[in-house]
Amino acid sequence: AQHREYTWTIRDHVHNPDGIYRPMILVNNQFPGPIIEVNEGDTIVVHVENRAVNATSIHWHGMYQNGTNHMDGTTGVTQCPIAPGQHFTYEFTVSGQSGSYWWHGHVGVQTSDGLHGPLIVHGHNEKALQKVQYDTDRVILLSDHYHDLSSALLWQYLMPDMENAEPVPVGALINGKGVRDCSDFPDRRCDNTTTNVGVPRITLDHNKSHRLRIINVGAFAEFKFQIDEHVMAVTEVDGTDVHPVSYHRLNINPAQRYSVVISSDVTSGDAFWMRARMITTCFTDPPKTMQADALAVVAYEDAKVSDPTSKDWEERLEQECRDMNTTDLVPVEAMVAPSEPDAVYYLRSNFEIGAYRLSRGFFNQSSWRPSADLPTLHRVMEGLTTENETFQASSGDGVGSTFVNDQAFDTKRELVLQTTGVQVVDLLVSNFDDGNHPLHLHGYKYSVLAQGHGYPPLTHVGAAIDKASLAPLYETLDLSNPLRRDTASVEAFGWILLRVIMDNLGVWAFHCHVSWHAEAGLMMQFLTRSDELATTTIPQANLNLCNAPGIMRGMGP
Ligand code: C2O
Repeated sequence: AQHREYTWTIRDHVHNPDGIYRPMILVNNQFPGPIIEVNEGDTIVVHVENRAVNATSIHWHGMYQNGTNHMDGTTGVTQCPIAPGQHFTYEFTVSGQSGSYWWHGHVGVQTSDGLHGPLIVHGHNEKALQKVQYDTDRVILLSDHYHDLSSALLWQYLMPDMENAEPVPVGALINGKGVRDCSDFPDRRCDNTTTNVGVPRITLDHNKSHRLRIINVGAFAEFKFQIDEHVMAVTEVDGTDVHPVSYHRLNINPAQRYSVVISSDVTSGDAFWMRARMITTCFTDPPKTMQADALAVVAYEDAKVSDPTSKDWEERLEQECRDMNTTDLVPVEAMVAPSEPDAVYYLRSNFEIGAYRLSRGFFNQSSWRPSADLPTLHRVMEGLTTENETFQASSGDGVGSTFVNDQAFDTKRELVLQTTGVQVVDLLVSNFDDGNHPLHLHGYKYSVLAQGHGYPPLTHVGAAIDKASLAPLYETLDLSNPLRRDTASVEAFGWILLRVIMDNLGVWAFHCHVSWHAEAGLMMQFLTRSDELATTTIPQANLNLCNAPGIMRGMGP
């Protein structure tokens, strides 16, 4: 195992990924941000210096942070933000996981301002677990793209009476690159002749096979992804190696990752379009200037043409605003899901116009705002668990005993569900909103057990559900080897059932990875093994972040 050390300076930077200049927040002036590529077992050390005008933090999406919850980088949950002029060193060991991950800012919607990059972990037996062999290995980042700073867009989005109309991206990028016609944007400063602008060209060797790690690093859009005339064998989902399944197109929701292996031998010709198409049915009133497709060229080394003539797949493009069906994707390392949960949490996600006519995202009665005081982890250390009577451990004695609202402290602002010891927890999320929500749980992978339209199949629906009411749903589950991942979506007016073995010491955010939705409050926390957590300590450097001069602790509206 090695130490992999990186030095990052975060700065505000004006950059033109598609020709149009816009303010961005970048690491080392790079867009997309630098790749972190390590072997399982390595220790990642990242020295972050914040020279931007706003506070920031970096989250390592999908990392277990086993024993290092304080390095999770989640503002309001595990740390105070890194104030302008301050620095912080993230250090954690990657163990028990491998595959394709990413890092991104975890203050506001800074991810969308360019603060993101890939994090790739090569497993001990990577080649053995990948059932299709490959000669090359590369990353494909898909992002929706805006021409304004996220803080400005967020301000508009969260204005009174906005009714959950998310900011619509103006276009999309592949590996941080695109090209727009400057004359479509007469009010913007634009230069589409600089070398960073254009259609990315991915050159591959003929007669070899290639692993592409596709990561949706965007704030909002779902992508349909394809390479003309190429069948893609999916071999990994969010860090879980799966038995290969062939696809023509993939739907990739925000924060999700898929590895695919492609080879050139099934195709004729030598250059092909890679198309990443935003699913525009998820958008409210897209402007005329919006361009749904991001293009790249996949060219084999002897390609003569500069623009491919390859054709789109003929079957109709599915334009539904929801996650793809992943039931065919079966983990290579088989794991039977625990047969019964110790606790079931029934979470209802919704957007509601509440106080001051503000549209807020809710899990049950709770709409998240970062604590104006201290991150939850620090408050746990200060004895919150014993001082606040309503912030109790779940009794853990079976389904039906633990339901959400009594478990929360300050239900208006924060929902924190607490478990002691190691517990198997089911999250049954019922979505009463017209939006699709990619739900990410920090610090874990969960098993995706079931999902569907409408209400979950219970004998009755209400705030309190018990074992009997769950029976119709639980009878149908296949626990033999369900897909394990860290981001799966609950569809509009639908439901999803996730099972998690909550064994990782810490406070972990659970939120919609549509960044706008998380900022509107669609976020909550799990405090797992809380009994032991209260007896550990946090390094002084993390605590010090909260004492930086001029730090704004409460980042939310
Ligand atoms: Cu990708 Cu809360 O994070």
